[in-house]
Amino acid sequence: MKIALGVTGGVAAYKAAELVRRLQQEKLDVQVVMTRSAQEFITPLTFAALTGKKVITEMFGAGGAEPANVESAIEHIAVAQRIDLLLVAPATADILAHFAQGIARDFLSTLYLATKAPVVVAPAMNVNMWEHPATQENLQKLRARGVHVVDPDEGYLACGMTGAGRLAATDAIVEKVRAVLGLRRDLEGQTIVITAGPTREDLDPVRFLTNRSSGKMGYALAEAAARRGAHVVLISGPTDLPIPESVDWVPVRSTEEMRAAVRERASDANVVIMAAAVADYRPTAAQKQKLKRGDGGLTLELEPTPDILAELGREPVRQNGRRVLVGFAAETDHLAENARDKLARKGADVIVANDVTQEGAGFDTDTNIVTMFLRDGRELPLPKLTKFEVANRILDQVLEGQKR
Ligand code: CTP
Repeated sequence: MKIALGVTGGVAAYKAAELVRRLQQEKLDVQVVMTRSAQEFITPLTFAALTGKKVITEMFGAGGAEPANVESAIEHIAVAQRIDLLLVAPATADILAHFAQGIARDFLSTLYLATKAPVVVAPAMNVNMWEHPATQENLQKLRARGVHVVDPDEGYLACGMTGAGRLAATDAIVEKVRAVLGLRRDLEGQTIVITAGPTREDLDPVRFLTNRSSGKMGYALAEAAARRGAHVVLISGPTDLPIPESVDWVPVRSTEEMRAAVRERASDANVVIMAAAVADYRPTAAQKQKLKRGDGGLTLELEPTPDILAELGREPVRQNGRRVLVGFAAETDHLAENARDKLARKGADVIVANDVTQEGAGFDTDTNIVTMFLRDGRELPLPKLTKFEVANRILDQVLEGQKR
């Protein structure tokens, strides 16, 4: 996996060299980006030697004095698209302010705007600068946007003062990067059944009822859980998505087939996540022959499908609290009310709800905006994140629920 490491101008910039080494030990491919002030503290040569790659230091040509270099001008877009994560360590108060305001003043701040990859910042600064409301407000803004912050440690600071502001320990930064990339093996030993995609209910041999689900959320969950070491059973309705590596893939078509597969595989699962958009109704009787066009209208008679999640919620193993059940709720209105109702009605531990009318949420997008509704009454809203990141946050919640 590829990560960009932004180094900004603080005394702690020298610690970024050790950080590069540790990230490489995690088999991460590191591209260093330095701000101009960072180069006052440490030379690009150090990072070039460690990474074997040219360090990115400028937006346009050398020092901006030369005519704009087209190659370097478009480089930030190329880097932005290539990386799996942007890490900034140390992050000064200044770069946090630029990120918070969306000011693209140099390569690093442009990269922040141009990338869709998750962002981790590890601030380091003088204690007064750290505690200043301006810095804290900027951090709050960034957190609300989904940026991960590795808080600084307390201790003796280079400026002679004592307090919070010292760059977090290298191990803590690497651990956060691993968590965000889904590289922790914290689901080892668990079997997780995940359903994904739509179901199809046949009307006749050539026509069916279905919905707009692409399966992306369920597939992201399967990939995230497998990377974290779980044995994943992915029960999938028809989708165009590639099968994630190292998952046990079970293709199904109708609600009835999905139900049978879930019932069979859920018996030894620790967690069941119903991300599929299961049809609620199916034709009372599928026609054996193709329906012919007549002169008048056509009325279809539909019957409700079995509610797979609710059935699992009623099982005794569930009532002993031994299996974590997660459901989804795609809503267009009254999100919280409907989600809480589903939590109770289906006996789930978590309902992940999204408003599918919102830009960047719902069907066939790569991002999602969800709120997790928990059995204990808590509501955890998440900012707009990639579906892979949403998947990891849901899995974090599952783990937390198991510990309690
Ligand atoms: N679900 C299920 N079996 C069904 C219908 C839904 O297991 N027959 C699961 C979905 O996979 C999802 C959750 O229940 O995790 C909520 O699905 P949704 O369609 O939003 O809920 P419904 O109970 O069908 O409510 P409504 O359609 O009225 O909003």
